[in-house]
Amino acid sequence: MRLDKFLSEMLYGTRSEVKKTIRSGLVTVNGTAITKPELKIDELSDIICVGGEEVLYSKYVYYMMYKPAGYISATKDNSQKTVIDLLKKNMDNIKNGVFPVGRLDIDTEGLLLLTNDGNLAHMLLSPVKHVEKAYYLIADGIITEEAIKQLEEGIDIGDDTQTLPARIENIKACQFKELGEYEQGIIAKSHDARKISDDIFTSMELVLHEGRYHQVKRMVKAAGSQVLYLKRIRMGTLLLDEKLAPGQCRKLTDEETRSIKNCCGKYIMVS
Ligand code: URA
Repeated sequence: MRLDKFLSEMLYGTRSEVKKTIRSGLVTVNGTAITKPELKIDELSDIICVGGEEVLYSKYVYYMMYKPAGYISATKDNSQKTVIDLLKKNMDNIKNGVFPVGRLDIDTEGLLLLTNDGNLAHMLLSPVKHVEKAYYLIADGIITEEAIKQLEEGIDIGDDTQTLPARIENIKACQFKELGEYEQGIIAKSHDARKISDDIFTSMELVLHEGRYHQVKRMVKAAGSQVLYLKRIRMGTLLLDEKLAPGQCRKLTDEETRSIKNCCGKYIMVS
């Protein structure tokens, strides 16, 4: 692999940033200062240092995406745009084998983790680990106290078992004009424009410990309402970066990567 590609993959900056770092003489390969970004290295056996610190090679990559509506959570599809198409449009040098960790519906937005680390994906999605997933949603009408209690204690959504207890945070009933401009735009598309100013909506955060098919939408339906807007805001310790706009992605920081690996118990390194 080229030295600049290696350093960029190991989160030392964009390709042009690492080229500058290399040309400045800060990088050594097996003890020799190298100023040529195109030098071919063996990432498994060469010792590469930046400013005297060894760069440890990891074959895994981790990206956070603010998934917009209109993309399916799959790696390939013959007719629909996938989140991998979007990732490749946004970021350079995407390795083969990167996939989305879990699924968001085509019309759901928000946090999506993409990686080639199957072990981490398995841990985050395992039904026995109960890793929290938090969603912000806007539902039609008012959700009654009784329905809130059911959502929190477990609700029948037509499966063999009720849902696990969920947590509801920041719930409030509001009018259309109190919603954010962005959410207003989305809801206006699906709502009767004449009624919209009189309508009441409920906004809330719902924190789940499991991931059943269409779970949030089915829970809200069982509670007597309908989800009009849905966005995932957190998975385990990983928070959707508010600086990302819908459709944007970035690599996870080292701290985010460490933290998400630690939040689901023992992470087993597979070399
Ligand atoms: N629950 C849903 O209903 N849809 C999603 O996309 C995610 C959770």
